[in-house]
Amino acid sequence: MDYIKLANGVELPTIGFGPGECGYSPKYNSNRHGVWSIPRRAYNKFVRRQLQKRQYIVAIASAIQQGFHLIDYSAAYGDGNLIHRGIQLSGLSRDKLTLTTRVSNRAQFQGKEAVKEEFFLQLKGMQIDYIDILMFHWPVTDFYETTWQAMVELYQEGYVKTLGVANCHKHHLEKLFTLTEERPLINQFEIHPLFTQKKLIDYCKKNGIQSEAYTPIARFDDRLVRLPVLHRIANKHHKSILQVILRWHVQNHIIPIVRTLNKQHQKENFDIYDFSLSDAEIADIDNININARVRYDPDNCDFTIL
Ligand SMILES: NC(=O)c1ccc[n+]([C@@H]2O[C@H](COP(=O)([O-])OP(=O)(O)OC[C@H]3O[C@@H](n4cnc5c(N)ncnc54)[C@H](OP(=O)(O)O)[C@@H]3O)[C@@H](O)[C@H]2O)c1
Repeated sequence: MDYIKLANGVELPTIGFGPGECGYSPKYNSNRHGVWSIPRRAYNKFVRRQLQKRQYIVAIASAIQQGFHLIDYSAAYGDGNLIHRGIQLSGLSRDKLTLTTRVSNRAQFQGKEAVKEEFFLQLKGMQIDYIDILMFHWPVTDFYETTWQAMVELYQEGYVKTLGVANCHKHHLEKLFTLTEERPLINQFEIHPLFTQKKLIDYCKKNGIQSEAYTPIARFDDRLVRLPVLHRIANKHHKSILQVILRWHVQNHIIPIVRTLNKQHQKENFDIYDFSLSDAEIADIDNININARVRYDPDNCDFTIL
């Protein structure tokens, strides 16, 4: 495993694992059944939820055991207790891991005290007394400045090792620079070969901010996974196209945060440290860019649903 050093000297693994929200899946259509099936449906829902939780905890443990030591989470996904149980099951001690959490939009809308209250609930849920990385999930218009100030206070009180942000464009970062002496050292945003974000990455680099890629494999988007150029490179290295994409991130000094609860997929995603892409191959993948997001634009979205 390789590491990247942040401006404050903290070392981060070059790849991260984000389990996302437990039970995240397209909505189950429960209106198709008659009223008499309500108790059965409630029971099924309960059982399904317990199974989902178990699968989630086991998946976190297996990701850690396979080498993912940077774990990405958010208060928008839950209270963090399942993360604690996954870490416990993995057998690895908390201090060997880099844990991230984010401030939800819901807390941001309620102001500074709610941001802090939510943060302490995250520590309680994860059963930890500090977090390695604290970010806000989105730069919620008219609220993210106050959120940032609350985060800086938590940092100054010793509850946070490194401050970061997510989904910030250049103008959000410029605003933050005027607010406090502390600057974010990480920006997590959407990056993948369909949306390479070179300008924003360069701006972050010039300002001592490490870029993290969310949705790093574009959620397996068809426009990406069918591209012959990726298959050619993957065949040459005897790797899968996803391994090639994750390797492309790492060689571009971007930390990909990838999600899968599938043990085989986790193994595949971590197995990217025994080959290197040539400069020409990196350039070929850079050229895939069509400036296409698969997620939301922070300047054009409804923060109440994120
Ligand atoms: N800050 C933010 O606003 C923000 C927004 C979005 C995401 N994130 C973070 O980034 C993480 C990842 O983003 P994401 O979930 O949007 O996208 P992603 O990691 O690009 O894609 C996840 C999808 O890829 C599939 N997958 C992963 N590895 C695979 C493999 N080896 N073979 C086949 N399929 C594979 C998964 O399916 P299977 O489960 O079937 O493997 C899953 O459906 C999240 O969990 C979260 O931590 C942050």
